[in-house]
Amino acid sequence: MKVIITADHAGMTIRNEIKELLKEMNIEFEDTGCSCEESVDYPDYALPAAERIANGEFDRGIFICGTGIGMSIAANKVKGIRCALTHDVYSAKLTRQHNDSNVIALGERVLGPGLAREIVKVWLETEFDGGRHENRINKITKYEDS
Ligand code: RB5
Repeated sequence: MKVIITADHAGMTIRNEIKELLKEMNIEFEDTGCSCEESVDYPDYALPAAERIANGEFDRGIFICGTGIGMSIAANKVKGIRCALTHDVYSAKLTRQHNDSNVIALGERVLGPGLAREIVKVWLETEFDGGRHENRINKITKYEDS
């Protein structure tokens, strides 16, 4: 699995925590987050990273900002992206099983780094259930293609 991680200035601490997790899990990743020396605009990070997932260069994305909301809104504008704004472990598991989410958005001002790590670990380890859930995703894809 190849992962792209990105963040604005409000996501630096959790971004570093998640990078450590990815190293521990031996998951290949690229970090395209900001240098974080000044305030930046989250779409400038979310949109290019999401496009690199949509074009197949990466399998999954982990996008972090202050609330996770801006990153998730921007990511979901890119065709083929299913970004889940997720702040609990149960939703992290279910959004993989039911939604086959390929991006997770996290808010550093909402979560502590320990919980963020647990959420991302479960999200990375959980497979898509397929079946009836696949039919539902196909309806979204059909809408995107129309
Ligand atoms: C930056 O202050 C903040 O607005 C941004 O990180 C994010 O929370 C937007 O949704």
